[in-house]
Order: sequence, then C-alpha cells, then structure tokens
Amino acid sequence: MTLAPASYTQVGQATRRQDGPAKVRGEARYAADWHFPGTLHARLVVSPYAHARIVRLDPAPALARPGVVRVVTAAELPIKPGSSPSRLRNPLALDEVTFYGQPVAVVLGESEAAAEDGAAALAVQYEALPVAADLESSLKPEAPSIRKDSKHSSNVANRIEFKEGDLEAGWREAAVVIEQTYQLPMVHQGYLETQSCLAVPERGGLTLYPSVQTLFRTRREVAQALGLPMSKVKIVLPEIGGGFGGKAVLLEPLVAALALLTHRPVALSFTRAEDLAAANPAPACKIYLKLGARQDGTLCAMQARFWFNNGVYPSAPLQVVGFMLGHAYPVSNFEIEGQEVLSHRVGASSYRAPGVPQYVFALESHLDAMAQALELDPLEMRRRCQGTQASESFRQVCERLEGTPLWQNRRHKEPNEGFGLAFGQLVTCLEPAMASCRLEDDGTFALVTGVADITGVSTGLAQIAAQVLGVETEQVAVVVADSDSAPYAGDSGGSKMTYNLGAAVYRAAQEAREQILHIAAEKLEASPDDLELQTGQVSVRGTPSRSLSLPQLASATMNYEAAFTPVCGQGRVAFTDYPVGFFAHLAHVRVDPETGDVAVLNYLAVHDVGFAINPAEVEGQIHGGVTQGLGWALYEGLVYDEHGTLLSNTLMDYALQTARQVPPIQTELVFVPSEEGPFGAKGIGEPPIVPGAAAIGNAIFDAVGVRVYELPATPERVRRAIKGH
Ligand code: MOS
Repeated sequence: MTLAPASYTQVGQATRRQDGPAKVRGEARYAADWHFPGTLHARLVVSPYAHARIVRLDPAPALARPGVVRVVTAAELPIKPGSSPSRLRNPLALDEVTFYGQPVAVVLGESEAAAEDGAAALAVQYEALPVAADLESSLKPEAPSIRKDSKHSSNVANRIEFKEGDLEAGWREAAVVIEQTYQLPMVHQGYLETQSCLAVPERGGLTLYPSVQTLFRTRREVAQALGLPMSKVKIVLPEIGGGFGGKAVLLEPLVAALALLTHRPVALSFTRAEDLAAANPAPACKIYLKLGARQDGTLCAMQARFWFNNGVYPSAPLQVVGFMLGHAYPVSNFEIEGQEVLSHRVGASSYRAPGVPQYVFALESHLDAMAQALELDPLEMRRRCQGTQASESFRQVCERLEGTPLWQNRRHKEPNEGFGLAFGQLVTCLEPAMASCRLEDDGTFALVTGVADITGVSTGLAQIAAQVLGVETEQVAVVVADSDSAPYAGDSGGSKMTYNLGAAVYRAAQEAREQILHIAAEKLEASPDDLELQTGQVSVRGTPSRSLSLPQLASATMNYEAAFTPVCGQGRVAFTDYPVGFFAHLAHVRVDPETGDVAVLNYLAVHDVGFAINPAEVEGQIHGGVTQGLGWALYEGLVYDEHGTLLSNTLMDYALQTARQVPPIQTELVFVPSEEGPFGAKGIGEPPIVPGAAAIGNAIFDAVGVRVYELPATPERVRRAIKGH
C-alpha cells in the first residue's frame, strides 16, 4: 500500500492537529462539559478500609441535607450479575469492601455541592477484616481469601508456564550467569481528565457521554450489564483528556443504572483522589531472572519467575510477559513461570503496552550487566543476542543509533554522568475497522469514523484520505460519529489506530476517488483512465481545460433530478499480519552521589515506525511515552501501607512529573515499511513508554556503578545503593 514518496504532498507532512485550536481555546467539550436540564449529580461514598465488613449504612443523615435526592446502594442497582465479580457488574460494594477507595454508595443531589454534602454526612460503620495488600502477604497460606467463591483455595488467579530445550544443558554452556530480582510498583496512567460519565435516559433507553477510548465496547458492556438491547443504548464520544489504557469502560454501567433508576440524567466524575485510588492502574510486578550467556554473547539459558499483584480482579498480562521473556532475544533453553496474584488493592488493568515495560526493565537491565561481565559494548551485546534472527527493523534501528552524536560522544562524560541503552520491540495490534468517506456539497470530504481520538490520530487519518483524494488535508473533516451511526471500529488502543483504521480510511478514500472519476468520465466524455484528480479538480490528462471541480461533481449527485449517485466510499480491513517495530532509547544522566538524585540530561529515542504519516504527531507520541517511561523509572508509584491504605492519593504525593523534570528528548524515526499499513506505517502509540526504566537504570550504573532493582529509582534508593545501607 505505497505510492512513490516523491509524490506525497499530504502524508509525511507535519500538519497541525485539527483538534488543536479548540483545545487550546478551551472550547473542546469533555464528558463533564455536557449539560442537560434536570441532571442529578452523583457523589461517591468510598471505603477508607482495604478490607472490611459494612456493618451499617444509614442514609438518613445524607437524605436530610438540602438538595439530596437519593442514596443508592448496591442492592438497588438494576445491573445483571456477571459470570464472576467485576468492576463493571459490581460497581458498589455489597456487604464487604475489598480495596481502599472502593465505592460503597452513591449520593444523588440537585447540585454537585448538595451531593458532596450528602456524601460527607452519610454514616457508614465498618468492621475491619484482615488485609493482604502486597504479594508476600497475599501468597501466604494463611492469607485471607480475596475471592469469596469457594472454587479457589489460593490467591493465585492465573498461572502460565513456558518451557523449551534443556535448562541444565543450557547452564553448562554458559560463560556467565547472572540472577536478580526486579520490582515495579502499581502506577497510574496519569491522564489529566478523571474518569467521567453522563447518562441521559431517552427513547426508552439511554444516551451516554463517557470519557472512554472505546465506542462499541462501551455500548456492549452497558447494554449487557443493564439487560438492554443494543438499539436502546447510544454512546456519544466527547473529547477525551487522556486514556493510556485506563479509560476502557469503568463508571459507565453504574451511571447508566443510576439514570435508569431515577429517570433523570446522572453525571459522575471521579475526584483526583478517587481516580488514583479506584480506577484502573497498571499492576505491580516482581520478576526473578536468571540468565546465562556464552562467551560470544549469545544467550543459552533462562530461568524466570514473575508475579503480578493485580489487586482484587484478574487481568494481568501473563502471556505477553512469559512469551516475550523467552523470545525477545533467542534463548535455546528456558523455563518461565508467571503468576497473577490477587490482593486487597484496586483491580489493575491496562496501561500503555501492558506488561512490556515491566519485562523490558528486567531483561534489558540484565543484558547490560551481562555485557559488563563479558566486556562487550552494550549495543554489541544486543546484536550478538539477536544473532542471525535480527530483523531488518532491529538492524536499521541499531545503525541509526550509532550515527547519532549522543551515542558517538558517550565516552566523553563528566564524573557521575552515565549513558544507558535499552531496546524494545512491540507488535502493532490488530482489530477489524471500517471508515467511510463522503463528498460534501462544497467539494470537501467528511471522513466518518467511530473511534475516540486519544492520540491526535484524526489528523493523520485526514492526511491519508487527502493524499488519496488529491486535496489538501484541511479539505477532509474527520467526524466521530455516535454508536448509532458510526461505521464499526474497535478500541483506540494497542497502537493500532493508524495501522488498521488508517488502512480502512485509505480504502474508503480510494473508493470515493473511483466514484468521482466515474462520474467525471461520463460528464467529460472521457475514459476514467485518462482522468486525473488533483488539487480539487478532475481533468483530462493533457487537456486541463476539460475539467470539473469537486463542488461541480458534488452538485451532480446532490440535487433534485441529479443523474449520479452520491459519492461515499467505504473501507474495511481485518488484518492478520502483526508488524513488529524495534526501538532503542539512550538516556544520559547525572547522579548526585550524596543525595542519590538522578538528573536526566538528554534522552534519545530511535523508533522504527514504518512510515510517519505525520512526523510531528509521531514525535508527540514519543515525547509523551518517554515522559511516562521516565515517570515509572524515577518518580511514580502507588504506595500502599500494610493495611492496604493508599498513601499517594493526591498529586502532591503521587509524583507525576512537571514539565521541568522532562529532559530534552531527541527522536530518530526509522522507516522499515509494513506490508499492509497505510503508506507502510506501523504503530507508535505504546512503544515509547517501554524502554525508559531500563535505559535510566543502565545509565545510573554507568554513572556510579550501582543498580537499583526496585522502581521508582528515588534518590533514597539510589543513595542506599551507593552507600550500601
Ligand atoms: Mo492501550 S493499554 O491498548 O490503550
């Protein structure tokens, strides 16, 4: 799916985001910005305990407050039970709370202030129960059972095993063996807009305005939870203030149920504290890794065990981590075991490349230590590990890295400065997608999709269509339709929008183009093959005077007695081929050996993106992902005490970076085209978060000769590693 790059006038350009001006001016409407008369405002009453029995819940003091309309508890919600307990089907605790911040009741008020007052007045009495909030306590034989169903005797919800070859034989071949345990905390996606939803009862059903990154999945979850036919649930996608995997349906069944119950619109937004405590953070992870390499740097044996602490509900990325540990670099002999452990914490879920930053932190830190032991340059070590399997993508990323000044000058460093290299690889996910492309009266195009734009991908979609249609990108308006009318497409996630939906857009534009040429051929009495469509005109090749403008063609299809069918192209894809993109990050840090403070001086990210439809957007994705990776490396973590109480539940305590902590980030884009992506593009949404923690850890080692095995690498941990106590 490529044209000669020399002819690209729209794709490959750093076109400004179409959604930018409205966002900069504050005109963009997010979920909480929609207002309907008669809306009830919901405020949650949440548990201060990680595990407790609800002894008594007295709504009377709340109901006595002016403006409070109703107090709703779990038993009253018209939500169907699921096959197993879940956040969606059990949004309020019934008689027991199992994580800190868990909602136990909703107070509905005529105003936000009234609901807030009511929630503060509501009296709930708890009886504290034993808590297992971390891996160690949850894995003890005497640990309280997190799931109440008798089927499960331990808190291990899922387990996987991967084995290949003969591990004993592998160890015998090893010239160097290193073993180590790595730990990463739960972290929050850090989106600016908290979870938010408005539900409006209408048409015998509901219309929802949620902050979600998935249109049709939201409709399906809500309809199934409430037992409504799909036709009675309509989802309208407002602008979204960040998702990163965390906005994958959460409040919607609850808010929909409240609207059905009260026959009034209901609005609910998490406070920041609620979002940090009770949304969808990434799971905590512990990885034990023992790795053997031959003298030549190839890997011969791996034993790995890893555990995810996933909180109260399962969903950890066991397969990804287990498979990739054994296959990221070829290892002939391995035994890998992974466990998903439940605990009295909020149920964890997906965050930008689920599981990948975790295993990459362990594996790429480990490879750095092995390179050290084998006296190999860290890049040479990776090359030898990839060996003959090295893909074109890997090779070109290595070459580009070697050409950069930051890499070439890494030996000239001041005392306590260091450089750290880490690689990553990620497939672009697949999901069928569809788009339509309609010619408008004025000769512009409406590109209709059904996806939330969490990344600025819409502008890139417009560029793809514009390139195919021979118009300027501004002539293509991307319309995000609602679930009643949108062409089907899957979630905005998995780094897959440009690859899948972008390819559907390409086909839709191609079909619209063919329809236009067909109409023009009849009107100009020429063969479609002799026509060209460019700069908004169809003309007969070599005879520019015989031409028709797009508005003229549109009017030939959009009036009484017009002779031609309206122009509307459709594009649909269901791909089966996962393109892989490699990437390498190089961090340059300075460590203060007295305080343990790590300053990131420079950061380089080399990514194979196949092709950059909009290089500015691609760089924006890299800047954002690198920043999130650095947060995981150095600052962020949901900190729980032994009672399961979240200690970092405000942005004073949860250390999201400010702009001052973000280093200069250089990007290098490598183009190894994919077979099927539009113009060869691959996914770039998730990859840039991946290698940050390992690159920083390796840079710290290069600077001061010690490693921090538990993230985040706070000054306290770095100092302790340096001082040995
Ligand atoms: Mo994602 S973690 O597929 O938004």
